[in-house]
Amino acid sequence: MIESSIAFIDSGIGGLPYLDWVKNRRPDLHFSYIADSANFPYGELTPVAVKAAVVGAVERMLQIGVPRLLVVACNTASVTALNEIRAVSPCPVVGTVPAVKPAAGLKVDGPIGILATSGTVDSPYLDSLVSSFASDREVIRVAAGDIVRYVEERWLDEGDDGAVPVMERAVNTLKDSGVGSVVLGCTHFLHLIKPITNMIGSNIPLVDSRDGVGRRILTLLDNRSDISQSGISTGTFYVTDGGRSNDRYRRFAALHGLSWAGEIS
Ligand code: DGL
Repeated sequence: MIESSIAFIDSGIGGLPYLDWVKNRRPDLHFSYIADSANFPYGELTPVAVKAAVVGAVERMLQIGVPRLLVVACNTASVTALNEIRAVSPCPVVGTVPAVKPAAGLKVDGPIGILATSGTVDSPYLDSLVSSFASDREVIRVAAGDIVRYVEERWLDEGDDGAVPVMERAVNTLKDSGVGSVVLGCTHFLHLIKPITNMIGSNIPLVDSRDGVGRRILTLLDNRSDISQSGISTGTFYVTDGGRSNDRYRRFAALHGLSWAGEIS
C-alpha cells in the first residue's frame, strides 16, 4: 500500500539501509520500497536513460498511490534526475547525494575519496558539490559499478568475503592515493561497510549520507499532522520487473522486515 507510506526508490537494494535508518527511529510509520529492477544498474546508463527510468518508475508507483514522502535513495538518480522527479511528484521528494560536505568537515589529512557509480562520478552535480564544499581539497573519484553489481546480484549468497576480490581494484586506488576519508557515494556500498573498513583500515572514516537524508525526512514528517502513532512498523517491497531475480528480492524484503508485493502494478 503506497498511499500513506514513506516510499523509498532505488535501482535495486541500495536504498534499504536508508529505510532502516528511518524505520529504527520511527517504527510507527508505514514504508514502501521500490527496486527499479527492470532498469538496474542506473550507474551504467546515460543521463537521459537514467531520467527516463527513474521518472517512469515513479510514475508507475504514483498510479497505485501517492506516498506521504518520496525518498530517492539513489545517488545516481538524485544527481541526474531530481528536478524531473520533483516535476512529476505530488508529494515532497528527498534526494540522496554524496556526502561531500560532511567529509570536508572532518579533521583528517589526505584527499577525500569518493566511491560511486560512473554516472555519479561523471556528473556535473558532483562537480558542483566538490566546488561548493571541498574546493580547497584534493578529491579522488573512483567509479565502481562492479561493486554495485556484486551487492545486488551476489552478496546475499557470497557475503562479505566474496566482496574482497571485487573491491580490490577500487580500494587499492583509494589507498594508493593516500585518502584521509572515503565518501560512500552509492547507496549500494552501505551494505559493505564492514568489509570496506577491513580492507581500507579503520583509521580512514567512511562517510555516508544516512544521517543527513534521515534527518531531512524526519523534519518533513514532523511538520505533518497526519502521522500515525500506532507504534507498529509495516512495509512493502515492490520491484518493476516481475520476472527478474525475484527470489533474491524476496529474500532482501524478508531480511529488512518488508512484505513482498512483487511487480508494481
Ligand atoms: N544505488 C545507486 C546509487 O546510489 C545506483 C546503483 C546503480 O544502479 O548503478 O547510485
